Amino acid sequence: MGRPSFLFLEETLPMSATSVQTIRDDFPILRQKTASGAPIVYLDNAASTQHPWSVLKKMESVYTDRYANVHRGIHFLSEHCTEAYEQARETLTDFLGAQFSSEVLFTSGTTMGANLVAHSWGDKNIKAGDEILISEMEHHSNSVPWFQLAKRKGAAVKVIPLDDKGDLNLNAYKEFLNEKTKLVAITAASNVLGSYNDLETIVLLAHRADAVVFIDAAQWAPHQPLNVQKLGIDFLAFSGHKMLGPTAIGILYGKQTHLEEMPPFLGGGSMVKTVTNRGFEVAKLPEKFEAGTPPIVEAIGLAAAAEYLRQVGWDFIHAHLQNLTTRAHNALLAIEGLDLLGPADPIGKNSVLSFTLENVHPHDLAQILDQQGIAIRAGHHCAMPLHQRFGITSSARASFYIYNTAEEVDQLATGIRKAASLLR
Ligand SMILES: Cc1ncc(COP(=O)(O)O)c(C=O)c1O
Repeated sequence: MGRPSFLFLEETLPMSATSVQTIRDDFPILRQKTASGAPIVYLDNAASTQHPWSVLKKMESVYTDRYANVHRGIHFLSEHCTEAYEQARETLTDFLGAQFSSEVLFTSGTTMGANLVAHSWGDKNIKAGDEILISEMEHHSNSVPWFQLAKRKGAAVKVIPLDDKGDLNLNAYKEFLNEKTKLVAITAASNVLGSYNDLETIVLLAHRADAVVFIDAAQWAPHQPLNVQKLGIDFLAFSGHKMLGPTAIGILYGKQTHLEEMPPFLGGGSMVKTVTNRGFEVAKLPEKFEAGTPPIVEAIGLAAAAEYLRQVGWDFIHAHLQNLTTRAHNALLAIEGLDLLGPADPIGKNSVLSFTLENVHPHDLAQILDQQGIAIRAGHHCAMPLHQRFGITSSARASFYIYNTAEEVDQLATGIRKAASLLR
């Protein structure tokens, strides 16, 4: 799971049984039209993806057929729902390549995963003078919790710079690592540049320096198979809503040895074994970190999303998204005054293309595209330091997923040209 390797196929797709049209048929929202009657061209997938019938139906069936609170009731519905919830954890344990299902915690998303580690592991292990390394390409979810931790403890956050192409400067990383480094918190893939980081090297070097590694896999999980054991990752978080799952659900993976030593993050029901008037005894993993009623139906929905991706297959996902990304890369670069952020080579990009258009504000561009039914994102994408690095405050971002088509990429390019001629 270092830098991913890519299948690149010209026009053909590797799975004859799977075509983009069959995938599109699975997504009811793609049949919707905008207020003006235009078909929806949804290119905001790095923010949130859409949902296939299998996820929607699975969640509906839990609510309509078998819903009750989990782990508590001694009755049929609760037992059934508990089984489905724990089965979802097993599915996600496989999805992650984790050794034990007790290492797989349901959270509300990547942000919650980082905050849980910062408070529980961080408050216990970080002290004054320690150093936490992050990178200049982090989403605010993977920087602010560490700044907060450093402030609580009198520690320092050091930011690994990017080179001019937007790649992580690995030489600077090596220089930053020292005996004071206690944690390295890095994204697996950038939500702006579309680039992947070399996780193998990052983890290896961090472990050599006796530092613990937290990986933000929000933009990796929808695109690449995960294998936390192979890499020896200490902590890894991702969000369900970026990989066809529902909102308000995500995963925090933690190595059992770490999770066992960490104090609970939130207190309440479910995370305790016993409570008396003098205090409480903590439950075993994973309940220890799942205080209160968990997002039961969302967890089951996330497992259905992981299963859907497994059925589509990573070979298809890689080849299709690589084709779209390359097509978009070439089409966008042919537009006068358009500058792409990130790697010059589209091969190996994470189907995210961020760009600026000379003399056109990204918000104006997004608005004009919206009038044509094309949904992109404009702004800083929760990565202000990254934009500051390139001397800009915002960019426009188009991001593709498995249901997008070559025609939609062409519509995007035509739409941008149209916007440019209107706005310049
Ligand atoms: C790289 C990255 N990290 C973290 C997050 C935060 O995810 P969530 O808002 O689901 O917690 C995002 C969301 O855009 C992201 O792209």
